Amino acid sequence: MKFSPHIKSVQFPPITEVKSWLSAVALNAERPLIDLCQAVPDYAPAPELVDHLRALLDDPMTSRYSPDEGLQEVRVAVSDWYGRRYGAAPTPNEICLTIGASQAFWLAIMTLCQAGDEMIVPLPAYFDHPMGLQALGIHPLWVPFDAGSGGQPDIAAIAARITSKTRAILLVTPSNPTGVVTSPQNLLKLYNLAKEHDIALLVDETYNAFLPAGEVPHALFAEPDWQQHFIQIASFGKTFALTGYRAGALVAGPAVIYQALKVQDSMAVCQPRLTQQAIRFGCEHLDAWVADNAVMMQRRHDLFRELFNHPGNTFQLLASGGFFAWVKHPWPQFSSREAARRLLEEAHLLCLPGEAFGPELQDYLRLAFGNIHEKDIPAAVERFCEL
Ligand SMILES: Cc1ncc(COP(=O)(O)O)c(C=O)c1O
Repeated sequence: MKFSPHIKSVQFPPITEVKSWLSAVALNAERPLIDLCQAVPDYAPAPELVDHLRALLDDPMTSRYSPDEGLQEVRVAVSDWYGRRYGAAPTPNEICLTIGASQAFWLAIMTLCQAGDEMIVPLPAYFDHPMGLQALGIHPLWVPFDAGSGGQPDIAAIAARITSKTRAILLVTPSNPTGVVTSPQNLLKLYNLAKEHDIALLVDETYNAFLPAGEVPHALFAEPDWQQHFIQIASFGKTFALTGYRAGALVAGPAVIYQALKVQDSMAVCQPRLTQQAIRFGCEHLDAWVADNAVMMQRRHDLFRELFNHPGNTFQLLASGGFFAWVKHPWPQFSSREAARRLLEEAHLLCLPGEAFGPELQDYLRLAFGNIHEKDIPAAVERFCEL
């Protein structure tokens, strides 16, 4: 049996790799593991949501397929949620429910690209994105991270990379792994750039519920023709603490959704109904719960940033946001993989090496401090300072 050369060029899932290191480490109760590896809300879903789902299990319809794009009433609830959060909303027909944001990304790239095409990908990139692109033979055109601009996208550098093979500009905001929030002004500039070149602006907004209270992510849904050039990848996994439910959506114009449904049908048919009902309940009832959690995550961020910037810490904080911090490790002789292993072995801290997020990122690490409770943040930072 032969394998696709494209799949062979893809890195192994970095979280799986990093977690496999654990078996070689002797952990102890005195110094328990602090897991800064995967971005998962550490709190449970809202109890009223769980109660609601429990009751739905008795309904035989819960175990059936739904329409490929998802139940109409769920997409109406999602559309209303957008209206409240963004001030302008995609219609239910512009929302296709997916198996997490991850599958929405695949629907988008398979709809837009064929092997040999290109996508502009700012560094550091959320690793699953280049992994998906490379698996399909789509070339990422990297754009370096500019710490000087606070991690805002370099629009001129992005424009300079567009060729006749470019199909989209990809962006993640708030960013995984840096936490940086791209400003609405820059998103509009990127949208106009995409429009000028008749390509897509593909934005992954998995963490959009964790912006500071009242901050609107952008006004792109208010653009009269947004459907022509904007595609959003959405997730309710972090919003409602439902990562295992695989709750995502592709938000795009009807022409994109029409093509994407061909992939949806052959890949998954539909998002599980129970997940759809969880999303509906969340959108209809949990605005206050989501807002409280966003405030709590903001507190974690403020505390982490304050402590991590301690003068005695040789790890340098370059950028941070809702869930993540992007830091430079103090060991130029080590690759980021070696640095991450050393942190695990000597300090029982689990984090991701920068090189998982794209080329030439040996000097960096991603810390998902949003994973850990506020009370554990001082102990985590202390372990960095001790090294
Ligand atoms: C930027 C980004 N996009 C997508 C995902 C995957 O989201 P989902 O669990 O909804 O597939 C993640 C998960 O960590 C992420 O960080």
